[in-house]
Amino acid sequence: MTRPAVAVARAVFPQVIERLQAHFDVASNQQDEVFEPARLIALLQGRVGLLCTGSERIDSAVLAACPQLRICANMAVGYDNFDLDAMSAAGVLATNTPDVLTETTADFGFALLMAAARRVTESEHFLRAGKWTRWSYDMFAGQEVHGSTLGIIGMGRIGQGIARRGALGFGMRVIYHNRSKLDAATEAQCQATYVDKQELLRSADHVVLVVPYSAASHHTIGAAELAIMKPGAVLVNIARGGIVDDAALADALREGRIAAAGLDVFEGEPKLNPALLELPNVVLTPHIASATVATRRKMADLAADNLIGFLTSGKALTALNPQAARAP
Ligand code: 8YV
Repeated sequence: MTRPAVAVARAVFPQVIERLQAHFDVASNQQDEVFEPARLIALLQGRVGLLCTGSERIDSAVLAACPQLRICANMAVGYDNFDLDAMSAAGVLATNTPDVLTETTADFGFALLMAAARRVTESEHFLRAGKWTRWSYDMFAGQEVHGSTLGIIGMGRIGQGIARRGALGFGMRVIYHNRSKLDAATEAQCQATYVDKQELLRSADHVVLVVPYSAASHHTIGAAELAIMKPGAVLVNIARGGIVDDAALADALREGRIAAAGLDVFEGEPKLNPALLELPNVVLTPHIASATVATRRKMADLAADNLIGFLTSGKALTALNPQAARAP
């Protein structure tokens, strides 16, 4: 019997490729080139499944060119690279990787908050440049984190993880804004209070963004929002590029309208607004919030489990559009 054929769009752990090879004929891109749509389409010809990352866009053009495709398993919890409506219309199952990266990503949100508020990378650059000649009372004096007010926009799993860290670990007062208010038990667990967006921006000492990207969340933070934040505030974006207007943020940071920012995601990444690179008061990391060896392996394994489960027995673990699936 011929085995189903699947493709892996980017390099992943060799052990995960081996797991897939036990079930499928696998075409993999272990050279890790980022394929243009035409090359992705060529890779997908005759293949029923794809393991992909946030870098591959699955839209109606790709779907029309690959009519045999049944499932795209994203190795990411976010899925703004999927046109979910087009996938559902084409009968292609979409899956993502929730839960396995929650705590690791929340850790990193806190790492960026701490690094930006306490000027960790800025002071390290100063030291490495040989500029440290003496102690002084205000050298790299930053913003307080413990005991301050933490505002979280987007209170899903990762937002809740950040709230717990803030409330339980750092004694922070936690306020949040979300499409819907959490139930009382979850609010109590996170020690978090629901407020509207304006109040959050006005009252928070630090604002962390963990909202999924969509047309509705585009530029959740722009010039108007930055204008009402506290002058000592730190803004952290671990969600997606486009949630923040990066040009407006660069202006606010340059003019000292807020104290600092920590950014893991950027509009148009991996390119980023060059103005950000010139500023000392922003910590910049290359979309690595989920990047621990253990968590990336869990993400790859879950994406592989979705492909294996669906294509061998019709059951994916974390389907985004289960109603859309055609029989494998
Ligand atoms: C991924 C992420 O590393 O899961 C997400 O949504 O942003 C990251 O964890 C990235 O999207 C690569 O797929």
